[in-house]
Amino acid sequence: MPEKDESANVSGLRERLRAARSVFVLTGAGVSAESGVPTFRGGGQTAVWKGMPFEVISSAEMVGRDLALVWEWFDYRRGVLRTCRPNPAHESLARWQTRLPQFTLATQNVDGLHAEAGSRGVLELHGNAWRARCLDCGNREDVREKDAGVRPPVCRACGGLMRPDVVLFGEMLPEDVWVEAAERAAAADVCLVVGTSAIVHPAAGLPVAAKRAGAFLVEVNPEATPLSDFCDLTLRGAAGEVLPRLDF
Ligand code: APR
Repeated sequence: MPEKDESANVSGLRERLRAARSVFVLTGAGVSAESGVPTFRGGGQTAVWKGMPFEVISSAEMVGRDLALVWEWFDYRRGVLRTCRPNPAHESLARWQTRLPQFTLATQNVDGLHAEAGSRGVLELHGNAWRARCLDCGNREDVREKDAGVRPPVCRACGGLMRPDVVLFGEMLPEDVWVEAAERAAAADVCLVVGTSAIVHPAAGLPVAAKRAGAFLVEVNPEATPLSDFCDLTLRGAAGEVLPRLDF
């Protein structure tokens, strides 16, 4: 797209955001890529760990079969995340929240970087890798407060075994979070989809629902996705470069 059109699109969108009554943003692994968090399907490859595709190690079935191995995988992922800090894309979204009457940020990411950048009330559709949840009583605790030498961690409330508080393959999303995200998406004037391959459902259905309810739909991604043709505007670039240009 010629440079002038691109900048016209960016300034047009900035005005639309400034005037918006309600904005809904859905993010995926791509928004954290510039922070050093590996994406799942970047470059056509899917993540593999110890020879296991992540759909296998990150599954409900594996929690039943080998909970200790699931913790080893998440301890490894937290090891990667520990060195990652929010990037300008996370920071822009945190700023927008303070400037809009109705702003909703829903993420598929479990890295906690949106909250670290200052975003409040982030709808964590797939949970959070820094939290553990008791298999018996459902109590949630911060993994950083647990003894790293005890795996699986033990629940402070009932003594039960704990699992990562992350939505694994074959599992439903947390209902309260899902219902709120679906309601907010359907009420949005503008919906931005940032850094997701838009193939994992039900999250990938949120921008479609927003568009069907009348939202202006925008995709920010260096690559095309199955959602691209459905969008009113696609901005091909890295989130950390594109979102600050939309600051209003
Ligand atoms: N800025 C914006 N987008 C980017 C960037 C960047 N700097 N780098 C990569 N991308 C895009 C890629 O082009 C790709 O479309 O981010 C997307 C990442 O896609 P996936 O790796 O599939 O991640 P995501 O869409 O979040 O996956 C959804 O699948 O594996 C499950 O639970 C996991 O939440 C995850 C869900």
